[in-house]
Amino acid sequence: MKYKTLCFGISCILFAHWLYSPVPENVEEPWKVRFADALIKMTTLVATLFEKIGIMKFEDTYVAITLAYLTKPVSDENVTVIDTNFSDIPVRLYLPKRKSEIRRPAIIFMHGGAFVMGSCKSSTHDDLNRWTSNKLDAVVVGIDYRLAPQHPFPAALEDCVSVVKFFLQEKVLAKYRVDPGRICISGDSSGGALAATVTQLLQNDPKFKDRIKAQALIYPGLQSIDTSLPSHREYAHGPIMFREATLKLLCLYVTEDKALLQAALKNEHMPEESRHLFKFVNWSDFLPEKYKKNHVYTEPVLGKLKASYPALLDSRLSPLLASDFQLQSLPLTYILTCEHDPLRDDGLIYISRLRNVGVQVTHDHIEEGVHGALSFTTAPVFLHLGLKVRDKYITWLEENL
Ligand SMILES: *[C@@H]1O[C@H](CO)[C@@H](O)[C@H](O)[C@H]1NC(C)=O
Ligand SMILES: *[C@@H]1O[C@H](CO)[C@@H](O)[C@H](O)[C@H]1NC(C)=O
Ligand SMILES: *[C@@H]1O[C@H](CO)[C@@H](O)[C@H](O)[C@H]1NC(C)=O
Repeated sequence: MKYKTLCFGISCILFAHWLYSPVPENVEEPWKVRFADALIKMTTLVATLFEKIGIMKFEDTYVAITLAYLTKPVSDENVTVIDTNFSDIPVRLYLPKRKSEIRRPAIIFMHGGAFVMGSCKSSTHDDLNRWTSNKLDAVVVGIDYRLAPQHPFPAALEDCVSVVKFFLQEKVLAKYRVDPGRICISGDSSGGALAATVTQLLQNDPKFKDRIKAQALIYPGLQSIDTSLPSHREYAHGPIMFREATLKLLCLYVTEDKALLQAALKNEHMPEESRHLFKFVNWSDFLPEKYKKNHVYTEPVLGKLKASYPALLDSRLSPLLASDFQLQSLPLTYILTCEHDPLRDDGLIYISRLRNVGVQVTHDHIEEGVHGALSFTTAPVFLHLGLKVRDKYITWLEENL
């Protein structure tokens, strides 16, 4: 009993301490951001403790929390919502009820969650996809791809590719009255990586070339070969997203071997034969001056990790590793980045690389933004920022799809 009281007391003190830790000056609703930040730090602490004591694995604490926010497929006055399978992979469909003479646009959405957690059925993504469908009179497909560590790379990607290819069949498009010329692939965070990769793979496949009209990437993570970009350094301790906890989850998509995590934390996880890939993510070349600040570029330290993981060299894990040739034919692109986000520079580098090869890119940068804003559009924390991100994304789709 005394032990429990002590734990509770320590938790309260830590929570209060985190609640009062500073957040960047320009964030809106700083108290709510602090609260969300403290909740996430508490979750990380609990996850770490539970793993140490042997109650459950680190990632399972996060997964358990996200499971609490899963929704049923509930139709409303505007949108019919159906859970079904596309080529054996679970998807949630949003079909507008409005009568329409012409065929509709479609958006295929890949949710975030570090490849380990989350679902298109979580309340935040259900809300977003429902809203998109109603607002744009569009068919929306949310994909419940398989998650790591049970299903490591490239399981999630394979599922997304299968769903998109299934959906692109003429008979399927006709069934849902979708206009084959107005299809967009979207995703947030790690889902942004999936969306970017699926778009690259389809565009470089003669059978599917030019079938996708647009891609929309919301604060995407796009590479894992350099874990020390300026934004990683500046926001290693949050708000909202923390370098160590995030790498711990992300590494699980590649392997459960802890050696990779230990090396990735030191940015010494890449093998000797990956040297030629660093030119694709060289922030010193691709970041606008404004973001370089006084950071100093250091050459990668290679060959320290004994085990080798081919996935780390694969552009299907890190879409930023695609060559200029593979990038040049990509469709109309929307990228949203947030200033206070460790993944900020991934997005900024992709924008530079795409524009360098002539791809048309619209970039929205939210100066007061933090990572994962879309996940704060429902309980337990509601941020205005979430609606701002959603509305910018929807406005772009409205004008471009
Ligand atoms: C249905 O659409 C109308 C018009 O966009 C909107 O005002 C209403 O809130 C929507 N209903 C639901 C349940 O979302
Ligand atoms: C959909 O696929 C999942 C996983 O492959 C399977 O468990 C489920 O029974 C399928 N559902 C339907 C309706 O076919
Ligand atoms: C990165 O860019 C800097 C500055 O342009 C250059 O000095 C360095 O050699 C580059 N490193 C790699 C690995 O591309």
